[in-house]
Amino acid sequence: MKYFFSFIVCILFSIHVLAQSSMHIDIDPGKRLHTISPAMWGIFFEDINFAADGGLYAELVKNRSFEFDHPMTGWSILTTQGKGKYLVINDAKKPSNGRYMKITTLEGSYGLENEGFRGMGIHANADYIFSYNVRNANQDKLKISIQLLNFKDEVIGESIINSVSKSWKYVESIIHTTDSAEHGKLRFLVTGKGSLDVDMISLFPKNTWKNRAKGLRADIAQLLADLKPGFVRFPGGCIVEGRDLMNRYQWKKTVGDIHQRKTMINRWNTEFKHRSAPDYFQSFGLGFYEYFLFAEDIGAEALPILNCGMACQFNTGEVAHMDDLELYIQDALDLIEFANGRVSTKWGKLRSDMGHPKPFNLKYIGVGNEQWEEQYFERYKIFEKRLLTSYPSIKLVSGTGPFSDGEWFDDAWKKLKDSKAALVDEHYYKPPQWFLNNAKRYDQYPRQGPKIFAGEYAAHAKDYDVSEGRNNWESALAEASFMTGLERNADIVRMASYAPLLAHKDAWQWRPDLIWFDNLTTMTTPNYHVQKLYANNKGHYTLPIMVNGSHVAGQDSVYASAVVDTTSTTLIIKITNAKSLKQSIDFKINGVKNKPADIEYIAQDNKYEYNSFTKPDLIRPMNMQTKSNDGRLIMELLPYSFYVFKMKL
Ligand code: AHR
Repeated sequence: MKYFFSFIVCILFSIHVLAQSSMHIDIDPGKRLHTISPAMWGIFFEDINFAADGGLYAELVKNRSFEFDHPMTGWSILTTQGKGKYLVINDAKKPSNGRYMKITTLEGSYGLENEGFRGMGIHANADYIFSYNVRNANQDKLKISIQLLNFKDEVIGESIINSVSKSWKYVESIIHTTDSAEHGKLRFLVTGKGSLDVDMISLFPKNTWKNRAKGLRADIAQLLADLKPGFVRFPGGCIVEGRDLMNRYQWKKTVGDIHQRKTMINRWNTEFKHRSAPDYFQSFGLGFYEYFLFAEDIGAEALPILNCGMACQFNTGEVAHMDDLELYIQDALDLIEFANGRVSTKWGKLRSDMGHPKPFNLKYIGVGNEQWEEQYFERYKIFEKRLLTSYPSIKLVSGTGPFSDGEWFDDAWKKLKDSKAALVDEHYYKPPQWFLNNAKRYDQYPRQGPKIFAGEYAAHAKDYDVSEGRNNWESALAEASFMTGLERNADIVRMASYAPLLAHKDAWQWRPDLIWFDNLTTMTTPNYHVQKLYANNKGHYTLPIMVNGSHVAGQDSVYASAVVDTTSTTLIIKITNAKSLKQSIDFKINGVKNKPADIEYIAQDNKYEYNSFTKPDLIRPMNMQTKSNDGRLIMELLPYSFYVFKMKL
């Protein structure tokens, strides 16, 4: 009898626990809340971690025009097959690309080799476009061989050029490859006796994004396009500011003839002693025109961030004299003209001459990156007045400095709340727990005044020796949880972008990053999958998603948001379980009877796991289906998991 009684108590207790452990969540698809910005989930592009040169920009030759501080960076002289000499000549008549190389062969074959960006990535059975500017002033009888080599110095592709003209000429030839190399190189070999002048020695894969000649690396561009981003922020980041004003990003120097774009040191070259990159420069081959074109290609709004007369305050903090601010303002006005102006205008004509007579329809401009204190606001105010007077419909983005709270941040909001900025840019690079704790960050924000642009954020988890390790599942899950809060507050949070976007496995300065790549392949992080699940399931308006009358925002480590996609009439629920135990959820979806639901989910019970080049797909979305039953959907969320449910209404 005693045992029977205990048995009954046990059963009752288990039933009670089971009932207790199910979280009851209510969704009412009839209660439309906020309209979601079509540009909500975007991307942040900065030339950090070799993201442009050596990354998205498909050029394979480093220092193609000998304009790096040291003209021979990236180049070595080949002396094993003959004798010769070289001379770097600087032609003052060409101030933006003055240097060229004179190569003189004395005996046999002599030439140069280029190492690429930490090696040259060459694919097998592919065509490459080699090009250069060349002059054979004395018409010496010379044979030029262009060879692609693998790391064993075996030739895996070659092209021979016999005659070259007396005066400067642009020459192209196609090289077909027989094998691949992750750390290949380009050899430029001259045979015979005599001299040649060469400049802009370049090698591109023929296969580029949308087959644009000398364009973007197709695999990286495709990953970005697959995100379906609402906007592309460009060119950064601190690179906008420069270490000093001379080193700031100037868009006018990145457009027009590629041969005349002046190479400049990349600010990340020297920024971090532990990751110094003496060979990091900006060729600006991926400049503002290419940026606008790419944003247009992928259906994203362009969001340029411009220098406001201030260099990075973590570096020199140099500011332009107020009397000289006009130069910076004019740059901003001219950029709008370049993007949107008629072809009869100066800058509109340049856009048209570059191949895009139609305007790019630019709608946003950011003034300054991470600036703070009075020197920023006095400059910002002048920009605001001037830009809005000339272009009243342009949406201005202003900054709040580098931190998510504190004195500078509070001061910025005090000054900006009555400004005419359409959006205020907030940045947070914080531990995963911060993201979980801050899922309600915007619930209490004022609904009036400028809207929010979460312009740079990433959860910084513990560090690993493996470059890509810091992008672990803990960080991505924390971001997914936090993003439910951005989505819930879609009335004021209008744009958001993870940062930074890209990193070269052997040449990074900053981590974590959304996508890793080497010279041949790419590797998507769990954070990438989270961003993609959000951006691909953006929806058009939000719905309340409640537990016991409150928003689902961390109760029992569960975070959720709900939206409706009006095009496909689909209810989309995003939900995370940020704890190590399973969690049973009982969704009550008002008015939605027996409907099938498609689910994409990511679950990983070891939150410290990450994707790597050896296990690139360890953490990735999986698919399954379920069904609502009489308006209820009962699901067991796996430990450390993120789910996206899609149900036709
Ligand atoms: O995303 C990397 C850097 O972080 C950006 O350049 C800067 O804006 C921020 O401090």
